Amino acid sequence: MIGIIGAMDSEVRGLKTAMSDKEIREIASVEFCSGTLCGKKAVVAEAGVGKVNAAVTAQIMIMEYGVTAVINTGVAGGLEDSLRIGDIVVADKVAEHDMDTTPLGDEPGFITGLDRVYMECDRETADILKTCADEAGVRAVTGTVVSGDQFICRDDQRKRLREVFGAAAAEMEGAAIGHVCVMNGVPFGVIRAVSDCANDDSAVDFPAFEKEAAARSIEIIKRAAARLSV
Ligand code: ADE
Repeated sequence: MIGIIGAMDSEVRGLKTAMSDKEIREIASVEFCSGTLCGKKAVVAEAGVGKVNAAVTAQIMIMEYGVTAVINTGVAGGLEDSLRIGDIVVADKVAEHDMDTTPLGDEPGFITGLDRVYMECDRETADILKTCADEAGVRAVTGTVVSGDQFICRDDQRKRLREVFGAAAAEMEGAAIGHVCVMNGVPFGVIRAVSDCANDDSAVDFPAFEKEAAARSIEIIKRAAARLSV
């Protein structure tokens, strides 16, 4: 069974609508919708915004549903200069940009325990997601996606995430899901559609484009579901 996590209703509703044989359970105030998605056994959840909500949801999917892979879908702030609203970013790796033990001599983003900054996404899942985006005629890039409990909308934040992490996009959940998946030895993937460019315009662009962008990421997951071997 594959687990699919989004933070907001707009990021998962289209997946739940497309599922058959649905069964709903509520655990830790999160609704889990299991069933069949494009011929694949799947469980879909709206985790809520931020790293803690995402981590709790991922751990529940692993323990209660025995998922063999987790995909995180949704919207992101584009950081790479070429990215435009509506473009897709498929993560090859993720990092928690707000993890900071630099005063102790660690690199920015270093996660003590996992002892790394970057968590590698499942290569096959990322390749399938990228191929499906290309086939859908959507502009898609592969790169680093960074997560933190912050909405990125200032130049100094943007610049730091580009320079320190070489990030293509910023959001608020993907790396937390990656972190939990690494701890449990479960493969994971992250696909995000750009809702804003993490700049001065983001407070206006995000509410204007979030629904359209979220739906685009969902469409690519639906194309990919049947092909995923996990
Ligand atoms: N998700 C979508 N846009 C974002 C932004 N600018 N910062 C963080 N998360 C986001």
